Amino acid sequence: MISDDRRQPTTISDSVTHSAATPNWWQRDDLAYDTGGRLRLAGQDLAHLAQSAGQPVFAYSARRLSENLDRLRQALRSIPHSSRILYAMKANRFLPVLSHLKTAGIDGIDVCSPEEIHLARQVGFREDQISFTGNSVSNADLDCLAAHPGVWVNCDSLSTIRRLAERSPGRKIGLRINPRVGVGYRQNEQLRYAGDTATKFGIYADRMEEALALADQVGLSVTGIHFHTGCGYLDDQLANFRRVLEEALPFLRLVPHLEHINLGGGLGIPLAEGDAPLNLSAWSEVIGETLGSLAVAIWMEPGDYLVKDTGVMVLEINTIEEKGGRTFVGVTGGFNLHLEPAFYHLPLHMLPCCLSDDPGSQALPKATVVGNINEALDVFAEDIALPPVAEGDFLAFLNAGGYGTSMSSNHCMRGKFAEYLVV
Ligand SMILES: Cc1ncc(COP(=O)(O)O)c(C=O)c1O
Repeated sequence: MISDDRRQPTTISDSVTHSAATPNWWQRDDLAYDTGGRLRLAGQDLAHLAQSAGQPVFAYSARRLSENLDRLRQALRSIPHSSRILYAMKANRFLPVLSHLKTAGIDGIDVCSPEEIHLARQVGFREDQISFTGNSVSNADLDCLAAHPGVWVNCDSLSTIRRLAERSPGRKIGLRINPRVGVGYRQNEQLRYAGDTATKFGIYADRMEEALALADQVGLSVTGIHFHTGCGYLDDQLANFRRVLEEALPFLRLVPHLEHINLGGGLGIPLAEGDAPLNLSAWSEVIGETLGSLAVAIWMEPGDYLVKDTGVMVLEINTIEEKGGRTFVGVTGGFNLHLEPAFYHLPLHMLPCCLSDDPGSQALPKATVVGNINEALDVFAEDIALPPVAEGDFLAFLNAGGYGTSMSSNHCMRGKFAEYLVV
């Protein structure tokens, strides 16, 4: 069993009940309240960080980043294949995060646009450490790929195969396939990239032979198969993950010179009480059992699994007020800084950065936490219990290290934030 230290008890008091006996589900060595009731990430006092920044803050634990990478590497050692972990840059492209992963010796990086290729090169990834998987790929995108002949390309349409060959003849390529089975956090359909309804992602079984014949005809050599069928899956989705691999097998058998299979990303982390960390032993067993007999390498491109739980977003509470019978907690930052709760309805756990004994603070059994954007969508959480808080306090939003800043926008011109790698 590959261990995840997330559940180790600490001596810190429970943020909601103030009971020292029960550790919180989210606590771990580098994320906990200190004895003075101040929330620390990798030793950094988060309220102090946000106070000194004077704007919304995203802080990432370098230690957790290394631990996540090491845990995944260890899990992959148990499968009978050579393997490569390529970090999906789209999850978080903060330069210090990318550099940290590079320095920690990650095998490579997954990109989906020319700009991401340039950033990967700037951080020090060689072309042969970069894998590109895009969709609705333009001729300008393909010109960029032609200028980077060492970058691996996964083609997800016949059109891309044809137009890439015009610019980059003789290249080895991967084909992104769609096995019509998706995985995702809990039963969330919005996080699945494959399923009964056709999506834009990948080549379906009915056109696979045509795609291979086309590649052959235009002089591209298919040696990789790629699929990414959803995001955030935990143990309850492992049966679906197995089905994804099983459904991929007929595609693999059609490729005579297959060298690697890319399993994509999608590995999830606990987002709410009751979620258990993904059992990586069980996960790697599924890979071994379904793909074990194939003499090919396994590549994967996780985003969230590496970065999501490293990061915390910290926003100031500016308003606490009852309106129409509900208690609203307004914060200085909106859904535009971290879109997932509003867009994908993912749970976002939040905590005060300082546990308060101040008589002016009030415990809120049913708080609705909202941002500062003029949109009805701008809600972080509805009717949640919050420990005593007051206007001027800071709230920490956990698991904001993936798809927060990278998807953020400047809507209402409130897109400013400061990012810190805490080492
Ligand atoms: C092709 C591809 N690979 C990898 C990822 C990373 O997914 P995750 O962050 O869920 O691991 C994504 C996410 O959308 C993706 O589209």
